[in-house]
Amino acid sequence: MKLVIMGTGYVGLVTGACLADFGHQVVCIDTNPERIKTLKEGKISFYEPGLEKIVKRNFPHRLTFSLNGEENIKKAEAVFICVGTPSKEDGSADLSSLYEVAKKIGKALNNYKVIIIKSTVPPGTSLEVKKLIIENSAGNIQFDIASNPEFLREGSAVEDFIKPDRIIFGAETKRAFSVLKEIFSFVSAPIVETNLATSEMIKYASNAFLATKVSFINAISRICEQVGADIQDVALGMGYDKRIGFEFLRPGPGFGGSCFPKDCKALLKIAGEGGYEFKILKSVLETNEEQKLFIVSKLEKNLGDLKGKLISILGLAFKAETDDVRESPAVGVAQILLKKGTRIRAYDPKAMENAKKVLSQLIYCANPYEACEGVEAILVLTEWEEFKNLDFKKIKRSLKKPIIIDARNLLNGTSLKTLGYNYVGVGR
Ligand code: UDX
Repeated sequence: MKLVIMGTGYVGLVTGACLADFGHQVVCIDTNPERIKTLKEGKISFYEPGLEKIVKRNFPHRLTFSLNGEENIKKAEAVFICVGTPSKEDGSADLSSLYEVAKKIGKALNNYKVIIIKSTVPPGTSLEVKKLIIENSAGNIQFDIASNPEFLREGSAVEDFIKPDRIIFGAETKRAFSVLKEIFSFVSAPIVETNLATSEMIKYASNAFLATKVSFINAISRICEQVGADIQDVALGMGYDKRIGFEFLRPGPGFGGSCFPKDCKALLKIAGEGGYEFKILKSVLETNEEQKLFIVSKLEKNLGDLKGKLISILGLAFKAETDDVRESPAVGVAQILLKKGTRIRAYDPKAMENAKKVLSQLIYCANPYEACEGVEAILVLTEWEEFKNLDFKKIKRSLKKPIIIDARNLLNGTSLKTLGYNYVGVGR
């Protein structure tokens, strides 16, 4: 099928590349000339395992990039909207890019197409987009609006797109549902067909629920420390219960990234505007903020006043396998420490360039060994595999004090203790 993707960010590029890989004819549109130029050179501006290979495999015969929306929309059978919906100051979703795209589509509308919204949007937004398209079109041209929320995770985006747990289709007509099914005919996942508002709601409910799981396990980890229980075994024991499952029960410095914080805040706002105070979700966000302070307090417990102390941070990305630092708890923890006058040496395998833009005061190091030189404590904030295999014997020789605060329970505490480290994990 001839498809157009509006927006070449995370969701847009993964969607475009994967749909092309499955044989569709895809044009990805973006208003940023620099981005389009780089993509045409086969380069991707963010780190995502496997994505560059798929882009290279399909460009330029099945996958192309263009600044020209109008001409390409005219030729398309379906148009995906994949633009960002960031948080506004008050927590609500900023829909301005989405509405701009809707107007563009309206102006270009020449024959029947399905306009599919993949961006995360508050329930009711698809109908607003429909209205805008009608207002900006020549009139009397048939089209359908659809909602197809995306659930891909950074770091495993390609895998998540190709083998999703489920696909959600929200639409108003049989014709739209059948186009959606044709586009995704290569996927063998359960499909939920529903109305637009429900489809939009499923995305918020899913992300809010997963964020709740993370805050819940972080809260339980606090209690584990009070009563002498071990959170790793608690999570294991809980996970075997099929109703709970093992996923999203890893304690840590809190959730971050481009989705969970933004979507939780937006859902809280949506609920509030409708007259419902979503207290659980409010606590989930509060617990998430407290978790960063909790990690800092572990450092204080072991080092006393942090003013002037030199420490090392290993990991700045909001999770492993990404270079993304948006809402990263590691960045949040570093900011708290800087306010306290702590000096920080830092290393991350992929996220340092992005971190430099938001944390200019850190001493960025070429490798983890350099980051640990002369420090009084090591703080592990992202669960990168390479941190597990470091030579901690060698590291210990360059430390001022052998203290490790492992905010991800990533390292082998027992062997570190044998090496003479004062090892502190989370919830154990
Ligand atoms: C998330 C959703 O999973 C995805 O479906 C949605 O489309 C976008 O948002 P992503 O932000 O890439 O994906 O990361 P995810 O793997 O879900 O992790 C989110 C945050 O929760 C990270 O900061 C991660 O470190 C944290 N987390 C996750 C935990 O602290 N513990 C866990 O057990 C799981």
